[in-house]
Amino acid sequence: MKNVLVIHYSQSGQLTEILDNLTLPLSSDDEINITHYTIEMEKEFPFPWNKSAFFNAFPESFLQIPAAIKAPSNTILEKQYDLIILGYQVWYLSPSIPVNSFLKSTFAKQIFKSTPVITVIGARNMWVKAQEKMKVLLSDLEANLVGNIALVDRNINHVSVVTIVHWMFSGEKTKYLGIFPKPGVSESEIKNASKFGNVIKQSLKNKNFNNLQDELLKLDAVEIRPFLVEMDKKANKMFKIWSNFIINKKNSREFWLKVFNVYLWVAIWLISPIVFILHLLKYPFIATKIAKENALYKKL
Ligand SMILES: Cc1cc2nc3c(=O)[nH]c(=O)nc-3n(C[C@H](O)[C@H](O)[C@H](O)COP(=O)(O)O)c2cc1C
Repeated sequence: MKNVLVIHYSQSGQLTEILDNLTLPLSSDDEINITHYTIEMEKEFPFPWNKSAFFNAFPESFLQIPAAIKAPSNTILEKQYDLIILGYQVWYLSPSIPVNSFLKSTFAKQIFKSTPVITVIGARNMWVKAQEKMKVLLSDLEANLVGNIALVDRNINHVSVVTIVHWMFSGEKTKYLGIFPKPGVSESEIKNASKFGNVIKQSLKNKNFNNLQDELLKLDAVEIRPFLVEMDKKANKMFKIWSNFIINKKNSREFWLKVFNVYLWVAIWLISPIVFILHLLKYPFIATKIAKENALYKKL
């Protein structure tokens, strides 16, 4: 019998759906026992979001400052697992506060040590640097990252910004104004996530995860878009300055978060199109370097 622990947190239920489909081939196998653990916060984040809560989550998300979570049950903590499937979403270019809080808790220390882990990301489209942060969190727990799957919104960047704002602030994963595409990961990709479960099951049964990431990549588990990686890197530099500045502003935090809101709007709608044009112009000269680097992000 193989024991698998599926850990996740999801506000809209998107990540829950992804993981439910992904684990279908495992849950239908008599020799595999799946335990589910949903991370619960002591103080829950609102969904749908309001503007002030959304921006208020920025400094702690980016600086990866943990918040209090409810303790998992002893039944979850006492078992030994052959595999952990960890679903997470990205908040402000970092693993979301609930997932970061769990991974920095004493509970995670108990569960993750020397255990193979597959990360499953359900994000808008900017997750590459968050996964680098995830690698550090997992290495601190002495866990073994053996696979990564990243499911994202495949629409062009600015369209996905408009549609995710509609989704996050209305709570409805619907077509904004009836003309925009639906936000988030597409229904067909969510449904097809079971294809990953099949190769994961093989590795689990063979007790060999060495080739798992290569097998997952053959199934398009990860797509790297060079422009998004460049934006991710640039935004990380700016977010570092903003978050360290705002975290110290105890009395004027609300004001500075409003300024950050304006900055973010300018960065997305005015600066990023310029960066995109520059990216296209310099691309032919740095294509080989980018290709090499992006190949690394696909691996573990
Ligand atoms: C506060 C906040 C910040 C987010 N920041 C990012 C981000 O930096 N990159 C990204 O790709 N998605 C980002 N997203 C989208 C989430 O990763 C995720 O796709 C969405 O919240 C749905 O997740 P759910 O399963 O919890 O409902 C953000 C969402 C929220 C609420």
